[in-house]
Amino acid sequence: MEENMIRSMIRLAMDTLQFSYVPYSGFRVAASLLTANGKLYTGCNIENAAYSPGNCAERTAIFKAVSEGERDFAAICIVNENTDGQHDICPPCGMCRQVMMEFCVPEEFLIILAKSESCYEIHTLGELLPMGFGPGNLKGKK
Ligand code: THU
Repeated sequence: MEENMIRSMIRLAMDTLQFSYVPYSGFRVAASLLTANGKLYTGCNIENAAYSPGNCAERTAIFKAVSEGERDFAAICIVNENTDGQHDICPPCGMCRQVMMEFCVPEEFLIILAKSESCYEIHTLGELLPMGFGPGNLKGKK
């Protein structure tokens, strides 16, 4: 993946942190999602007074994209900002990894975890969700 695209995705995710709705945790998370045909979608975490209905940034981005007809994804970038205003690496929760598994090829889909435009790490979904259960399993495929 090109360095320029990685930096753009990090910048876009950082710009999206302002929209996080986090009155309960104060922990902002934002994501930028790159489709296979080069479009970018953003997402932020959205909390709820009843707690459980809250949604993670990654799923917000994926559901926004799928609801607009996208199903092929190349990469997602995840950033966060804690209550002290600090950015740290924020690995996706298990539920978000499972949602990625539904639409992405585990060996190919890239997950960029960024602290800043110059400090980030990249993993495949397969690394973060080994032997994940996906649509292929229901069809008897490995
Ligand atoms: N959160 C995300 O948005 N993505 C993750 O993968 C980890 C957790 C959110 C959920 C909640 O609003 C806050 O971070 C604290 O858990």
